[in-house]
Amino acid sequence: MRNPSVETQGLPARGAHAADEPLLAVDNLHVEFHTRQGVAHAVNGVSYSLNAGETLAVLGESGSGKSVTAQAIMGILDMPPARIPAGEIRFHGTDLLKLSDKDRSQIRGQRIAMVFQDALSALNPVFTVGWQIAEMFRVHRGMSRGDARKKAVELMDRVRIPGAKQRIDDYPHQFSGGMRQRIMIAMSIALDPEVLIADEPTTALDVTVQAQIMELLAELRQESNMGLILITHDLGVVADVADKIAVMYGGRIVENAPVHDLYRNPGHPYTKGLLESIPRVDLKGQELYAIKGMPPNLLEMPSGCAFHPRCPYRRDECATAVPPLYSISGTRSSACHYWREVFDGGSR
Ligand SMILES: Nc1ncnc2c1ncn2[C@@H]1O[C@H](COP(=O)(O)OP(=O)(O)OP(=O)(O)O)[C@@H](O)[C@H]1O
Ligand SMILES: [Mg+2]
Repeated sequence: MRNPSVETQGLPARGAHAADEPLLAVDNLHVEFHTRQGVAHAVNGVSYSLNAGETLAVLGESGSGKSVTAQAIMGILDMPPARIPAGEIRFHGTDLLKLSDKDRSQIRGQRIAMVFQDALSALNPVFTVGWQIAEMFRVHRGMSRGDARKKAVELMDRVRIPGAKQRIDDYPHQFSGGMRQRIMIAMSIALDPEVLIADEPTTALDVTVQAQIMELLAELRQESNMGLILITHDLGVVADVADKIAVMYGGRIVENAPVHDLYRNPGHPYTKGLLESIPRVDLKGQELYAIKGMPPNLLEMPSGCAFHPRCPYRRDECATAVPPLYSISGTRSSACHYWREVFDGGSR
């Protein structure tokens, strides 16, 4: 169902694609939090883009700004304390940051949806899962109870919950963690979003279940041609399902690459460190590398390149000059002054 108020803002109809615009483009986004301790610069000029049917993995350690960027896209940041001093978030070419709250709420959950990390706390314990899924259809599509319930069973089937029909009247606590996450995914895709953001949807799950959830997301993306953003701090989790990766550090993108290229040959010392800290079966017995030092303090970002205090490739210049995103090739970029050394596999 299209919403007239959204269309009057010049948003194209669902499925329509502006010729020269990606489905979603985050452009030079800045987000800061005004706290009693000072201003925390959580997102410092992030840009990434996503086309229909494409999967972008956003990778980075805790506090790098992955979730805050996603929350800005969804329009769920509390402002204040958050402020967006610069940047655009274009959906079909229209800057969401310029829309009214009312228009934004027509996009949130309906055309751009999000799966959160913690399924247990996101589901309401006192309602059955069937009721909670059906509620999406009743509220947003005005369906009758009976029709909404049918749709809920369909969706539970779609996210491969065994015995959906029998389980629709069960409560969240009666499901395993993996099944609860499937229920969350069912709710997030209920309204057929064009963009789905999955923010660490598998961190609380064991490895086998993580892989199954990733597979499910990849299948759903293929079936519906949505654009999928997978947020993770674990490269191993997304490697098989993502098309491209944006690596974040200290609220910036430090590397962009197609997923397999990044694996084969990282172009930033931080990415290289992340790759070397993944346990690998073929290197059994070798000591695992850990990136030394701590993530930056957002209240006092290091000068120059935010990664320089931890970087094995650093030179004097790195402490003073903020590296731009250097273009390595048509599809790759790296925010390292010395990307050539890293890229060529230079020794640390
Ligand atoms: N409401 C807030 N007030 C102040 N600072 C905040 C707020 N929300 C987030 N931040 C800060 O913004 C920074 C980026 O947070 P964000 O949640 O985006 O990290 P992340 O990359 O998602 O990390 P994680 O992997 O732990 O989820 C963090 O340092 C965080 O403390
Ligand atoms: Mg997060």
